[in-house]
Amino acid sequence: MSPGFPPGVAIFIVAFTILNILGCLWLIWWTSRGAAPAPQAGEKAEKTGHVWDGDLEEYNNPMPRWWLGLFVLSVIFALTYLALYPGLGNFPGVKGWSQVGQWESQNRAAQAAFEQQIASFIDLPLEQLARNDEAMRTARNLFAANCSTCHGSDARGARGFPNLTDDDWLWGGTADDIYQSIASGRRGTMPALGTVLGEQGVNEVAAYVLSLSGRTAPQDWIEAGKAHFQALCSACHGPDARGNPALGAPDLTDDVWLHGGDFAAVRETIQNGRDSEMPAHAPLLGESKVRLLAAYVLSLGQRSDAFAGLASEEANTDERNH
Ligand code: HEC
Ligand code: HEC
Repeated sequence: MSPGFPPGVAIFIVAFTILNILGCLWLIWWTSRGAAPAPQAGEKAEKTGHVWDGDLEEYNNPMPRWWLGLFVLSVIFALTYLALYPGLGNFPGVKGWSQVGQWESQNRAAQAAFEQQIASFIDLPLEQLARNDEAMRTARNLFAANCSTCHGSDARGARGFPNLTDDDWLWGGTADDIYQSIASGRRGTMPALGTVLGEQGVNEVAAYVLSLSGRTAPQDWIEAGKAHFQALCSACHGPDARGNPALGAPDLTDDVWLHGGDFAAVRETIQNGRDSEMPAHAPLLGESKVRLLAAYVLSLGQRSDAFAGLASEEANTDERNH
């Protein structure tokens, strides 16, 4: 139920509405009162005596019956409506109808229809669900509606939002890990270490991070950065910097970057930290939809392998063509 109006406001609305309806009835009575009876054939109609522009006069005819009838009908309609439906202050109406109630019952019906539609496959293990075409068609729509705003309609992500089609995972890539990521959400927090390291310290450790993925940087910065890394970073990113899926700490040795991998972006990450949140979706979508989505994300990885296969076949065809 809606919370309703404060009593003062409710009484005002009731009084205002009733007075308006009574006002309408009074208007009908007042306009039909004292009007002359319709003139008979040949008889001169009575005039009100109002004159405009010297010769424009007004007949004192009664309101047409059909017009009065409509007026009375609209009053009856208003009173019936206000008795059945909410409209009079906080009075809910004898039918007990509410917008929220209607929305909830439609929602329940849609949910029931959905459960019916997916009943034949929803209990399959996630790996098999990922290979079920019908399930994946439904899941693709769910992804477009619930996930694409952050991860992109092709699920390839963007700065700050991970690509879900590769086989690089912050929080692990097993069916179970992916299910957990979606159902309960994840929060990746990289602390701001600018004040601890100082300007030069940040430069040095950033240089070391670049060197981990095979890029060049001043050798003395890399050496100094390595010492900082072992002291400050290895607890989360691991001594070999290959990351830790239990904390969502990324592998820093590959060329996959969540927040950008150039010197400026890495510096910025270390200086000011990063805080990324994947919202928990089980409370929003329910168990079945989360399972479908987890299977869909799994299928994206499988499909990117398929794409890779296609791409190399194409490359081969190209070779042959030349
Ligand atoms: C509000 C934005 C947002 C929405 C909506 C969102 N995600 Fe995410 N998701 C993120 C962010 C940010 C991360 C990375 C969290 C981190 O950095 O640790 C993430 C991480 C993930 C991961 C883990 C990736 C990994 O590498 O381990 C999966 C799986 C995932 N999302 C799937 C989904 C699915 C499926 C949906 C739709 C139900 C969805 N996300 C909706 C923002 C979002
Ligand atoms: C408390 C654990 C923790 C510590 C300590 C920590 N990190 Fe991180 N780091 C993380 C997490 C978690 C993320 C992922 C943030 C996100 O999901 O947005 C991250 C992200 C990063 C990234 C961004 C990677 C990308 O793909 O864009 C870099 C670079 C990085 N850390 C470097 C460092 C360095 C260098 C240090 C030490 C000076 C350090 N981190 C210390 C947990 C930590």
